[in-house]
Amino acid sequence: MRQNLVAGNWKMNLTYPEALALVGEIATLTSANPAGTDFPEVVICPPFPVLHGVGQALPQGGKFHLGAQNCHQKESGAFTGEVSAKLLASVGCEYVILGHSERRQYFREDDELLSQKLKAALAAGLKPIFCVGESLDTRESDETFDYIGKQLTDGLFHLSNEEFDQVTVAYEPIWAIGTGRTATSAQAQEVHAFIRERIARAYDAKTALDTTILYGGSANAQNARELFSQPDVDGGLIGGASLKAADFMAIIQSF
Ligand code: G3H
Repeated sequence: MRQNLVAGNWKMNLTYPEALALVGEIATLTSANPAGTDFPEVVICPPFPVLHGVGQALPQGGKFHLGAQNCHQKESGAFTGEVSAKLLASVGCEYVILGHSERRQYFREDDELLSQKLKAALAAGLKPIFCVGESLDTRESDETFDYIGKQLTDGLFHLSNEEFDQVTVAYEPIWAIGTGRTATSAQAQEVHAFIRERIARAYDAKTALDTTILYGGSANAQNARELFSQPDVDGGLIGGASLKAADFMAIIQSF
């Protein structure tokens, strides 16, 4: 179901004590500003080793959820160093980020592998946050829509209607990630509308309207309200600014 949602992707940052301190600050700020009716869903995605501890320390009351940054495509087995979706669910994860550009770029995750990871996540009861987004070269070559259309078709649209209902899509232009160069709200809206239209074509109009589509890429406390005011932008996937409690809370309160 379409909902306002903010996910904090901590990436490979923070030690365990630092992670607990950050979630403690978030809990304190949350209790000082109790959730109103328009408070969004919030997903915190820390690194694997601190998932359980952070999950235990998250503010209670239904709005805060735990998410992982990746999972393996197999349910279990001899895959040294990997983590299954089933294990993630067992430590309290409800969401998992898949297809982040850093995974695609540095770990060579392609659409075939991501399709398997999606299936594994869904089989374990996790809700995938599936990322798409173009490089600067692709944007400057006017190939953004073709590129994202292909990522959607090859990576995501093999899912059944029931499976797709569990998916949140995140549009993250690679040139905006960690660069301080945010997409303008018009650029974000244009791509989000395109994604929603492609979902309508692949599934149906209701499914498209019900899909939550997040923007990610140098979103912060200053620009979140403008980005979230766009009709097809339902929230954000936040990297750097999710590591500072006050900034992250400001983003959460930007709807
Ligand atoms: O997953 C989060 C995105 O990669 C955005 O990161 O907010 O640091 O640009 P950023």
